[in-house]
Amino acid sequence: MSTSKPIYASFRSIGAYVPEKILTNADLEKMVDTTDDWIVKRTGINKRHIAAADEYTSDMGAKAAKLAIERAGISMEAIDLVLCATVTPDYFNMPSTACIISDKLGIHNVQAFDISAACSGFVYLLSIAKAFIESGMKKNILIIGAEKFSSVVDYTDRTTCILFGDGAGAAVISATENKSEAIIDIHASADGAYADFLVTPAPGAVYPASQQVIDEGLNFVKMKGNETFKLAVKTLTKDVQEILEVNGISSEDIPHFIPHQANYRIIKAVGDALKMTDEQVVLTVGKYGNTSAASIPMAINDIYESGRLKKGDLMLLDTFGGGLTWASALLPFAGDSK
Ligand code: UT7
Repeated sequence: MSTSKPIYASFRSIGAYVPEKILTNADLEKMVDTTDDWIVKRTGINKRHIAAADEYTSDMGAKAAKLAIERAGISMEAIDLVLCATVTPDYFNMPSTACIISDKLGIHNVQAFDISAACSGFVYLLSIAKAFIESGMKKNILIIGAEKFSSVVDYTDRTTCILFGDGAGAAVISATENKSEAIIDIHASADGAYADFLVTPAPGAVYPASQQVIDEGLNFVKMKGNETFKLAVKTLTKDVQEILEVNGISSEDIPHFIPHQANYRIIKAVGDALKMTDEQVVLTVGKYGNTSAASIPMAINDIYESGRLKKGDLMLLDTFGGGLTWASALLPFAGDSK
């Protein structure tokens, strides 16, 4: 009979990187038929950050990751798995952005791969990291959500270009025997029946590079905004209600509700349905826009850097994105407070 203690996965640290250049609503007013008033009222977004032309998803991911590793207080050599969630990888589709980030960090001969789960990518990675650690296969996993979303945005399409921004966030997930530090639960799901709600049609096997791709702008993100909006509110609310109920936790016991930052109206509707106060709901969409897989770790980093996130604080993550994919997670912050 084995006498070894169970191993749990813990969320040890957070880091993020935000590119320097800012694209304001006033800038967008000069580019497409829109107004600051419309954007603020319909989305809550005031500005978003855009990566430089020679700054790639891997550059942003590596910067966020370096910070997360430093804050975890471990060496680069201690990392035994590198995972990156992105739908705007440096290359479609190899090498993976995780491999490029590993090289930029000086991490070699370590398993590394990307996943594609759009805005749900970071919470999906959390579930993968938890499984790897609890099975005893890995001890310190670097998870990164990084997007250069501006590389797939059509800046003549007012229905999408006002929404998205660039950035990256990263975390170190480590093995622990201390149950009070453990990630409590993660629910992740998908339904490909709604695949056409959010699509970047090219490049891929369906539309390899061609003149048609360029002429029809198939390399740009397309979104059924209003349909996605309605389903997002419904799914995000149900997802959180379920994870809280299964774990016997009430929404008032959550100090930090960190939803995917797509639209203030979605966040508000979900927060209200769950009877969350403004203090509980983390809001960064106004200054970053929607940064897809980077949105949740960038938001966690914000509350960490402002000193709001303390060691042991319970976090509730909730996300929704292309695929369609969705996921929620309940976990304590196991790192040191800032
Ligand atoms: O991250 C993954 C998940 N993504 C999301 O969750 C995004 C979900 N969707 C949304 O956030 C919202 O649907 C949008 C912000 C994209 C759009 O807001 P909406 O309230 O759903 O507007 P709508 O698409 O129903 O459009 C209303 C009107 C339309 O005009 P008509 O047909 O009523 O004359 C649009 O053409 O607003 C027009 N419109 C704009 N007007 C000024 C659409 N975009 C703009 C714009 N500026 N940028």
